Amino acid sequence: MRAAIEAARAGLSVAVVSKIYPVRSHSVAAQGGINAVLKDTDSWEAHAFDTVKGSDYLGDQDAIEVMCREAPADIRELEGMGAIFSRDSVGNIAQRPFGGAGYPRTCYLADRTGHALLHVMYEQLLKHGVAIYDEWHAVKIVVEGGRAAGVIAIEIESGKLHRLHSKAVTVATGGYGRVYRTTTNALSSTGDGMALALDAGAPLMDMEFVQFHPTVLPRTGILMTEGARGEGGYLLNSLDERFMFKYAPKVQELASRDVVSRAEQTEIEEGRGVAGCVLLDLRHLGAEKIKTRLSQIRDLAINFAGVDPVEEPVPVKPGQHYSMGGIATDVDGQTGVPGLFAAGESACVSVHGANRLGGNSLLETIVFGRRAGKKAAGFCSSTDIMPFPDSALRDAAHGVAGIVRRDNGESAYALRNEMTGVMEDFCGIFRNRERLSKGYDRIRELKERYRMIALTDKGERFNNELLHAMELGGMLDICESILLGALKREESRGSHFRTDFTKRDDANWLKHTLVYKEKGEIKVRYKDVKITKYKPEERKY
Ligand code: FUM
Repeated sequence: MRAAIEAARAGLSVAVVSKIYPVRSHSVAAQGGINAVLKDTDSWEAHAFDTVKGSDYLGDQDAIEVMCREAPADIRELEGMGAIFSRDSVGNIAQRPFGGAGYPRTCYLADRTGHALLHVMYEQLLKHGVAIYDEWHAVKIVVEGGRAAGVIAIEIESGKLHRLHSKAVTVATGGYGRVYRTTTNALSSTGDGMALALDAGAPLMDMEFVQFHPTVLPRTGILMTEGARGEGGYLLNSLDERFMFKYAPKVQELASRDVVSRAEQTEIEEGRGVAGCVLLDLRHLGAEKIKTRLSQIRDLAINFAGVDPVEEPVPVKPGQHYSMGGIATDVDGQTGVPGLFAAGESACVSVHGANRLGGNSLLETIVFGRRAGKKAAGFCSSTDIMPFPDSALRDAAHGVAGIVRRDNGESAYALRNEMTGVMEDFCGIFRNRERLSKGYDRIRELKERYRMIALTDKGERFNNELLHAMELGGMLDICESILLGALKREESRGSHFRTDFTKRDDANWLKHTLVYKEKGEIKVRYKDVKITKYKPEERKY
């Protein structure tokens, strides 16, 4: 939405195509906040250093500099647009500590920050007269004459396929969290844009880096914001110990997410867990703070775990949360395909490298959404619509009909369940060659079986089974990309921890992984990391 607003401001005719109603996008679930330097005692260089360190030195430092320098103006602009940030005692935008940050620089709106920003963006979309095709599911990015020429999308209500010609296409479809069984991500987070971009010839970058958030509710995967630890919450094991003192003596619960999640998993696997979880204790914060600053997670804990954090600690465990990898772009959202742009979680600029800091995700959507929208507008001003032929629509219709008409075959839902189990069991927090190879082979086998799926719903209108089946095709490509990158990367860095290669290896692996599709097969290449000011050093919290 931020990209669309910027392109509309430049005078373009812009449309948003979204498989869900825009204010239901997964940014709605970003609870804890958005980072920016707002005080003289902080500096964009400090924000940049924290981000580089958090990324385990895999983030591109030129891109990180852009994000951290531009963040304050974007926050001011959001405020001007109507984002009602929480305030401190003198009326300034309040900021809370977050993991991996050396300064309390996370601006927030209680624990509903993403919700608030998403609605502000939507209001701006309406204000700028952007056309919205909601409940339209994109099935193809069309590349014509070597550049993006538009998309083909299904209008979900009627089941009809449509061509949308455009001078430029910007993908902003979020992450792929639903390839895992336990995830904080919405059902819609199926990585569709990444898979479509891969098919269109744009490489994906650093897909092996998958973030596991330390505090999600068991069974549902619902997020308990890092803001809870930012406000002073503790993590306890079954012995009632604040175990983070062992793993991150300086900052304990406010170490970066990869460190905290590994610590929790170690406690659980070594027998000091509580029914497969650890405990998030907020009781000492007092009822008032919990009810004002953390009211949403209190409700969620009561409704989904049967526990009131005012009275009892909440059982939590690590769960998939964020996709550091995505469509490779430069700082203006340009992908490897002319006219194709990407921003937000679906892109990899790369500002998060091997591990993202909390509060940098909403920021990335705003800073790089704005930049991608501006660049795409510039691209459009010097190009014409490239109409694409009827055959593109016929091919897409043929592909869809092929799935719908098949009578005997496996259920896509059964395959999807197997896929999420494979990713959880073989490509989780702790990885090694044996597990990753097994996972890779299983995903390749699922891809073969996917070719023969059959649907029970043959209808056209609101055929969710068809949409979910199409999502699954892209998800399997994403799983293969993650596993292949993880198998080849023989080191431990950020969220990618190999029990058979436990050290970071800058001599051989200070490089980005790029995955391409060549003749239908996923292949890997590598690219240098941009290092400017901050020389790689050992990460300690
Ligand atoms: O914990 C959280 O509130 C999540 C924030 C983020 O992922 O940036």
